[in-house]
Amino acid sequence: MVADTTSINRSRQLFPGRGSFWLFGYGSLIYKAGFPYLECRPAVIHGWQRRFWQGSHDHRGTPEAPGRVATLIEAPGARCVGMAYRIPPEALGPLDLREKNGYLRFTTPLRFLDGGEDRGLVYIATEDNPAFLGPAPIPDMARQIARCRGPSGPNRDYLLELARSLRGLGEEDGHVFALEQAVEELSPHSDGVASP
Ligand code: SIN
Repeated sequence: MVADTTSINRSRQLFPGRGSFWLFGYGSLIYKAGFPYLECRPAVIHGWQRRFWQGSHDHRGTPEAPGRVATLIEAPGARCVGMAYRIPPEALGPLDLREKNGYLRFTTPLRFLDGGEDRGLVYIATEDNPAFLGPAPIPDMARQIARCRGPSGPNRDYLLELARSLRGLGEEDGHVFALEQAVEELSPHSDGVASP
């Protein structure tokens, strides 16, 4: 698969003719929207788990030192809580650019935490994209996240913001929280609190 997915995504018209539709966010899209939306509701999708298995060359790392960011991995029985945004179609242009480092548009059934269900669009970085890193032991992933940074800031901030947002949604995500703990043990004072 190509390294830049922008043009593939432009040709994936998944909700043709609709004035608005749902976008499901499970990574940075939970805590940093940055696009116009009409409403947002916490939601869950089933059969997928959130994993820090995607490399980031353009946001939280560089091609030489990629960071690690979230993607979804198919896992029967798993669930992933995130945020659903009802967006106008024109929001997808900037989103395709933001997610261009390996993420493709897909559709998914989603269930709103306050009741009801619908289909939505989700960006997933599949294993065949050139930036995909795959699994590694938690301490190794934590060291990579602790040392990497890119044009959008430190990789560490991506992880910690996501963990904070998931807690705000009342969600227990063992993978994210294990990484958070491992990263904080590596650099407990790098959150701006001066050490004595
Ligand atoms: C998402 O948040 O839904 C996709 C991954 C990301 O942009 O962090």
